[in-house]
Amino acid sequence: MTLVQTLAKTTFEGGRQLLRFSTEAQAQGHRTEGVLIPISPLCTDHRPAILAHLLALSAHDRYLRFGYTATDEQIERYVNGLNFERDEIYGIFNSNLDIVAMAHLALIKEPGHEFSSEFGVSVLAHARGRGYGARLFERAVIHARNEKVYQMYIHALTENAPMIRIARKGGAHIERDGAETEAFLQLPTRNLDSRLTELVANQFAKTNYSIKEDAKRFWNFLAKVQEIRQGVRHARHQSAE
Ligand SMILES: CC(C)(COP(=O)(O)OP(=O)(O)OC[C@H]1O[C@@H](n2cnc3c(N)ncnc32)[C@H](O)[C@@H]1OP(=O)(O)O)[C@@H](O)C(=O)NCCC(=O)NCCS
Repeated sequence: MTLVQTLAKTTFEGGRQLLRFSTEAQAQGHRTEGVLIPISPLCTDHRPAILAHLLALSAHDRYLRFGYTATDEQIERYVNGLNFERDEIYGIFNSNLDIVAMAHLALIKEPGHEFSSEFGVSVLAHARGRGYGARLFERAVIHARNEKVYQMYIHALTENAPMIRIARKGGAHIERDGAETEAFLQLPTRNLDSRLTELVANQFAKTNYSIKEDAKRFWNFLAKVQEIRQGVRHARHQSAE
């Protein structure tokens, strides 16, 4: 697909998402091949949304994500401990600005050692199979390269077929050890393309987020107006009785 086609498809998809505000429509699956997905780097303000996302994972998903069935308290501790200065945390938002998918790229830069990184990801059950997991992985790879971190590590359980597929497709070397699987990825050095890609991806995500914010504000305003109208109508009925 050419860049023009990708941009045209992305613009169309953006418009479609903007108009998609009924919860029923949001629940429908949709394909994302050939469409830029807005992936936002998250900051400390997003802690509550990150917490809500992770708490919405089932016990089994928590087991796959963290390697143990994290309790609500353990997840809360994890979220409070996130280091937004050192690491990169990404989110994909729905039109209600809830995080439907997120990734944590932990950057390990110890003096005297080669820089390295560890990748973890989660996608809410209803949003799986759309390519969000794979896109978050690609986004993290670009950032790691631009940070001159050329090694990435992913810990997955052997049963976790989608995660292993994402890592394998990304070129990772997979080592299985019973129930555990480790994936090691050597990243190419950064170049102009990786830097431009990150720049464009961030700008696109920023624009998309602010459009969603405006749209959410607008729909909240409409809902308020509707509420007031109903209140007035109700009061009128009561005084007429
Ligand atoms: C792993 C996870 C992030 C994948 O997210 P996702 O958005 O559904 O993944 P994608 O849509 O990008 O699909 C990734 C690939 O796995 C494949 N896949 C999906 N389900 C599969 C399955 N059951 N078996 C084999 N492959 C599968 C997809 O077809 C896709 O491959 P393709 O690009 O060749 O078509 C998601 O399942 C999840 O959040 N699981 C719980 C947490 C977790 O396991 N985290 C990973 C450990 S860090």
